[in-house]
Amino acid sequence: MIIKGNFLYTSSIDEFVVKEQVYLVVKDGKIEDFYETLPTEYAEEKITDYGTAIIIPAFNDLHIHAPQLINRGVGFDKELLPWLETYTFPVEAKYQDMAFADRAYKLFLNRLWAVGTMRFSAFATLHKEATWHFMELTEQSGLSAYIGKVNMDRNSPDILCEKTDVSLAETEELIVKCNEELKHVNYILTPRFVPSTTEEMMTGLGKLGEKYDLPVQSHLSENRSEVAWVKELHPTIKTYTDVYNEFGLMRQDKTIMAHSIYLSEEEKALLAEKGVMLAHCAQSNADLSSGVMPLRKNLEMGLRCCIASDIAGSHTPDMNRHIAASIELSKINWLSHPEEKALQLPEALFLATKQSGSFFGKVGSFEKGYDFDALVIETDEMNGMLPRTPFEKLEQYIYDGDDRNILARYCKGAYVTKPFELS
Ligand code: GUN
Ligand code: FE
Repeated sequence: MIIKGNFLYTSSIDEFVVKEQVYLVVKDGKIEDFYETLPTEYAEEKITDYGTAIIIPAFNDLHIHAPQLINRGVGFDKELLPWLETYTFPVEAKYQDMAFADRAYKLFLNRLWAVGTMRFSAFATLHKEATWHFMELTEQSGLSAYIGKVNMDRNSPDILCEKTDVSLAETEELIVKCNEELKHVNYILTPRFVPSTTEEMMTGLGKLGEKYDLPVQSHLSENRSEVAWVKELHPTIKTYTDVYNEFGLMRQDKTIMAHSIYLSEEEKALLAEKGVMLAHCAQSNADLSSGVMPLRKNLEMGLRCCIASDIAGSHTPDMNRHIAASIELSKINWLSHPEEKALQLPEALFLATKQSGSFFGKVGSFEKGYDFDALVIETDEMNGMLPRTPFEKLEQYIYDGDDRNILARYCKGAYVTKPFELS
């Protein structure tokens, strides 16, 4: 496959690359090389020319609650714990109804496709059947994902409170089925967060992690009341981070912890040592009044951080909006913490593409050997009146773009069409 156009991508947090009007050769779904003039060996090949549009790596969202998309924007009058009780748990309970789950998950996959998130790591609900169905739909969609059935066996409403042994058995069943039957979906262990999982549950999940060498996703230090509650529940364990670690849930280089706002230096050292990916959810942290994660400091300490949506703790799944929100919040933070330099747009693009892509392998960049996951973007008709550089187009798309600006989407080298037609 040969594509001509303006390519923009990052190779590191401080290296942003722009290649204008070049040819990209993709072989077996992977990036081969860029050429200013096409070598004669390719003279007979068909070229897809995207003209003045820009081409960027597709987005990877490492923290999203798929069943909650239906609730986006609802209930931000409350903070995390009452928000869960009042708005989130009642919606998740609906996924025991397979007709509801089928439609909601198809709408979810259509929306992620539309906004250019080609890979994601999602929490489903605790329902085994609906979670399996979601995994199968994702496999059919052309997107790629980690998906986990949520585990929760304490401090949850009766309808969402599992028996520990049943939850662990159902989890193992899904792990085996996923390994055997799916190619584009991988299982990820998904304890909801410490307050809703017993020690027995965490121990069992830790063992499953070892047995099948699985990644883990959960929430860490999102809200002050939540942090205090964890301390009450585990008075003998020193920190929130240590709780996950004690139960084998900090799997080396395979763990995503969302939010991670209120952390001690000691916790950060452990998270760095374990190669934990901290999913920075700036829009959610503002919507639920959770707090400000010191992103710049964490990056400078060598912590792995990426930008994620946390739908429906946030109000939109569009990753361009989360990039903008992360930059905006970091600028406001800089006003009161001048030593914490604000995030620049290329840095934020890195955190939502190459950094998050590293959880899937060589994903999120246009360097040699990377999977070709890409979005072709054209900004609006006003640009006919005042021509823009490729970087200015990227800026305008990040701040004011939406799915209407995305002309084409690729995942693993394949052109991806809208997953589901719904009546
Ligand atoms: N902590 C436990 N569950 C949730 C959830 O669904 N969303 C967010 N943002 N935080 C959580
Ligand atoms: Fe979350």
